Amino acid sequence: MGRLLPLLLMAAGMPAWTAQPVRARHAMVVTRERHATQAGVAVLRAGGNAVDAAVAVGFALAVTHPTAGNIGGGGFMLVRLADGRTAFIDFRERAPKAASRNMYLDSSGKPTEDSTIGYRASGVPGTVRGLEYASQKYGKKPWEEMLRPAMELASKGFPVSYGTAQSLRSSARGLSRFPESKRIFLRDGKYYEAGETFVQPELGRTLERIARLGAKDFYEGETARLLAQDMAEHGGLITAADLKSYTVKERRPLTGSYRGYSIVTAPPPSSGGVGILQMLGVLEGTGYEKAGAGSATAVHYMTEAMRRYFADRAEHLGDADFVKVPLSGLLDPNYILKLRKSIEAERATPSSQVHAGVFTGHESAKTTHYTIADAEGNIAAVTYTLNGGYGSKVTSAGLGFLLNNEMDDFAPKPGEANMYGLIQGEANAIQPGKTPLSSMTPAIVLRDGKPYLALGSPGGPTIINTVLEVIVNVLDFGMNVQDAVNWPRFHHQWMPDELRLEPGYSPDTIALLEKRGYTVKPVNAQGEVAAIRFINGWLEGAPDPRTEGTAEGY
Ligand code: DON
Repeated sequence: MGRLLPLLLMAAGMPAWTAQPVRARHAMVVTRERHATQAGVAVLRAGGNAVDAAVAVGFALAVTHPTAGNIGGGGFMLVRLADGRTAFIDFRERAPKAASRNMYLDSSGKPTEDSTIGYRASGVPGTVRGLEYASQKYGKKPWEEMLRPAMELASKGFPVSYGTAQSLRSSARGLSRFPESKRIFLRDGKYYEAGETFVQPELGRTLERIARLGAKDFYEGETARLLAQDMAEHGGLITAADLKSYTVKERRPLTGSYRGYSIVTAPPPSSGGVGILQMLGVLEGTGYEKAGAGSATAVHYMTEAMRRYFADRAEHLGDADFVKVPLSGLLDPNYILKLRKSIEAERATPSSQVHAGVFTGHESAKTTHYTIADAEGNIAAVTYTLNGGYGSKVTSAGLGFLLNNEMDDFAPKPGEANMYGLIQGEANAIQPGKTPLSSMTPAIVLRDGKPYLALGSPGGPTIINTVLEVIVNVLDFGMNVQDAVNWPRFHHQWMPDELRLEPGYSPDTIALLEKRGYTVKPVNAQGEVAAIRFINGWLEGAPDPRTEGTAEGY
């Protein structure tokens, strides 16, 4: 068989050296952490649908992947049901009522660290209400059952992975500024080693209350009371009234098409969906793909599309409930044609010459994405986050969970760079009740009206480009889904005017790019994709080899 396999694969039209996704006939779960993947598969096997499994995975990751998995943060769930209906559940954090435009500027007008660390960095968390909303509207299993795997993982513990041990240790400086975080996540300096059991009794009790009483506990009950009290004692902004008034927003997904495929993705307050649709539009018809994946020419065209979109993003994108986002202008075929025509075939356009369209009308940063498909044909693609790794680094006494630092996704000072070096404008300035602009981009690609590819990634602004790259790797470069995920990535965000490349681009490709005028910067890794492709009656699950993620199906 060892010798036969390459021949069989070649016969199936695949080069023998391709990376193989995990294949299954009925259902598939791809997440960043194996216990969470297993929790999702168990729910599906017990008759739950993709949304039920997404709820169980969301809570499980809050226990086993503390850098990003959360109940103290927020995110987006993109759902496509077997009957073709789609939904976008926005459970992202909102600015507390006491938030104000210049709250993160010191007396001389300089941004402080308060938007990234400590009690003042958190927006009102949405995860618990978001998962409850999804469960009630689109799930079919009892809520309490969906929390059981997470409760067990918290109260009985789970073996810490190599990556988690490393990650906790590397965040020790920030976490140790807050006694509860230091005690729970750093064991007061006796760091967890890979293989040791991590038990979280306080989190277990919080989850148990949420299981028994529903999201009401988190927003109006004991959890809300303790959280508001801790916030008040430490100068945080979130009050009992903020928690009580938190609402989930179900929005219509953004849709578009590319080379005959349909794309269903994230609307504002994500900047990701409009980004991938605009960039695909710019690429379509350039013939860039003929140069081959990873060629200087393909990277050039894609980078120029990225540069132009991120200039628009800086100027125009924000929470559409508060500011006017010119979606139809940004996606207008004539505007896209103008962008395409402005790309020179052999030369990078300096970012100083690229401006947003006018329309009438070092800190480790972690988020996580998981993708689930069930046997009935439903899909849930979820990206949720604390924003930075371990969020604000604050754990409230007695509650056992970390809080987000999502307020940094606003423009603390419009026109100046935030934690991701991103320049953002007035559209994304802080206002009470507003949602900070996001780059999270869960996406589903359809072929002939049927699911073909579902995916998403963490990575702050790089998310948008990562999702774009995996989509074109499959659609334009004909890679299988695992190769498409593995393939070396790159990123350009207009400002700073630099092209960031993962390892894997050859020195002569880099030389060609530099000759065209790019400033090339190496980066270690970009993104952590979790993708599923639907092909010939199979589900192909592709976790990201940059992570400890797993795919499991049946
Ligand atoms: O919503 C956003 O765009 C950011 N809060 C995402 C942060 C992130 O992906 C960090 N991950 N590596």
